[in-house]
Amino acid sequence: MARTPLIAGNWKMHKTVGDALALVHALRREALPDGVEVAVCPPFTALPEVSRALEGSSIRLGAQNMHWEAQGAFTGEISPLMLADLGCHYVIVGHSERRQHFGETDAIVARKVRAVFAHDLVPIMCVGERLDERDSGRTDQVVSAQTEAGIAGMEPSQAERLVIAYEPVWAIGTGRSASGEEANRVCGLIRGVLSERFRSAAAAIRILYGGSVTPDNAAEFARQSEIDGALVGGASLDPQKFLRIIHAAIR
Ligand code: PGA
Repeated sequence: MARTPLIAGNWKMHKTVGDALALVHALRREALPDGVEVAVCPPFTALPEVSRALEGSSIRLGAQNMHWEAQGAFTGEISPLMLADLGCHYVIVGHSERRQHFGETDAIVARKVRAVFAHDLVPIMCVGERLDERDSGRTDQVVSAQTEAGIAGMEPSQAERLVIAYEPVWAIGTGRSASGEEANRVCGLIRGVLSERFRSAAAAIRILYGGSVTPDNAAEFARQSEIDGALVGGASLDPQKFLRIIHAAIR
């Protein structure tokens, strides 16, 4: 099955509203290639303005996190209802920085994923092993367990829309990416877990690689049969680098 590659920029806690608009305008000035889907995930504060700035463009809007409830007494949280209202299409769920610094467990990630679908948004669900887990030979076990937990209770019709990002924690923001071959192997393992659960629907699920993706290594990931794009952190903050990664993703 032909899966359209997705290049998604995770801006993390960067960019004021003015800086965010400058970045989006720089992206919009360039003609984007066919056959690649592009998304940007700015911080919450910039979502309304970026949403307006993307009107009439094929670039999709995503958020970096959300609460699972639509509303309620959850001071400081943002709900899926609010994100849908702003024109978001994607929501990153279970990024390793959320797991590591904010105590997100597999159970919380699964709850958020279900809430994302309930509001007709699309989750980019992140999984990936830490360095100590890789060094002790537990990569496959950890990634399989995170994937299984995240898809608990998911309908096959929802699964077809799901996006998974395989992001080895040791590769995020370190300049030390996984090799294309190893990333492809783990993405294949993830697809195996998805196939057991969803059978043929698993063939439609996009699996991205993330972790120190740059214009220089993007093509190596794009070449891999099991990798359907990238979740890009640092390099997505620079429009020229992000555009080169988008162009490298054409199959
Ligand atoms: P990086 O971040 O590209 O800066 O390594 C990727 C991510 O955290 O999604």
